[in-house]
Amino acid sequence: MTKKLNCDQHLLSLPWSDYELLDSGDSMKLERFGAIVVARPETQALWKKERPELWEKADAVFAFHEKKGAWDIKKSVPESWELSWGPTRFSARLTGFKHTGVFPEQEPNWLWSRTQIEKIERPNILNLFGYTGIASLVAAGAGAFVTHVDASKQSLDWACTNARLSNIPEDKIRWVLDDALAFAKREARRGASYDGIILDPPAFGRGAKGEVWKIEEDLPILLETLKDLLSDKPGSFFLINGYAAGYAPRSFAQALESVFGNVQGECGELHIQETQSKRVIPSGIYVRFVR
Ligand SMILES: C[S@@+](CC[C@H](N)C(=O)[O-])C[C@H]1O[C@@H](n2cnc3c(N)ncnc32)[C@H](O)[C@@H]1O
Repeated sequence: MTKKLNCDQHLLSLPWSDYELLDSGDSMKLERFGAIVVARPETQALWKKERPELWEKADAVFAFHEKKGAWDIKKSVPESWELSWGPTRFSARLTGFKHTGVFPEQEPNWLWSRTQIEKIERPNILNLFGYTGIASLVAAGAGAFVTHVDASKQSLDWACTNARLSNIPEDKIRWVLDDALAFAKREARRGASYDGIILDPPAFGRGAKGEVWKIEEDLPILLETLKDLLSDKPGSFFLINGYAAGYAPRSFAQALESVFGNVQGECGELHIQETQSKRVIPSGIYVRFVR
């Protein structure tokens, strides 16, 4: 029987001590990152707010003035502040793109990759488009040697700072400032191999030397390259996320199946659950499989 990726497996990100989704609605979401409460735009939130009284608590609100988005600071917010997820520590900041440096919908994937890594002997992991590095820190914390790639010096510096906060020994993560596709192609030519590959490609991005990344053109090429990089070790795994390009989980799954053949795994949406109402915000998609 043909094995197929099961695409009904939506993953639920539940509140943890340093993060909770307090409420959402009217195209906004209200979240707590440690002690700081932020309100920011959320296109998925077509519904009404359920706890309007909570919104006054926001320390900062990302709002648009004459089509330009910026943070309105209501109470004092430090330039950066520390958060943790288990032993993994990282800093949050209010960035100009309405992000905080943490994507909480990834939490079930951190848990899953940690579990996979703990089963592999001498795991060697590749994390592409690694941003502030939380997936890399979780992998290194689980015993892996990690190659973390990002094209932005600023993101790489932030990820390095997070690694120091998490007490990850310096020789556990190789930091690479490069275009993800160019790096992967080079690694394939060198005959490199990885026991786990994690990637979170944006819809559009730029490499370290200005290379243009367009998901619709470049993802198929990147997947072909990564097929050569994924080791045959039992337990080796592949995890891809997507959040901004509007693709359905099945589209990513079929893209993977057309390259890797019949693999057994799951895919679906990434949901963040509200603390009280249990409503969810669909916040991205993922596909993952284990060899
Ligand atoms: C989608 S975010 C990654 C989110 C992250 N994985 C997480 O869960 O926190 C995009 C990252 O990709 C990087 N990026 C964009 N284009 C790139 C490219 N061509 N090569 C490498 N990194 C790129 C950006 O600098 C940014 O850090």
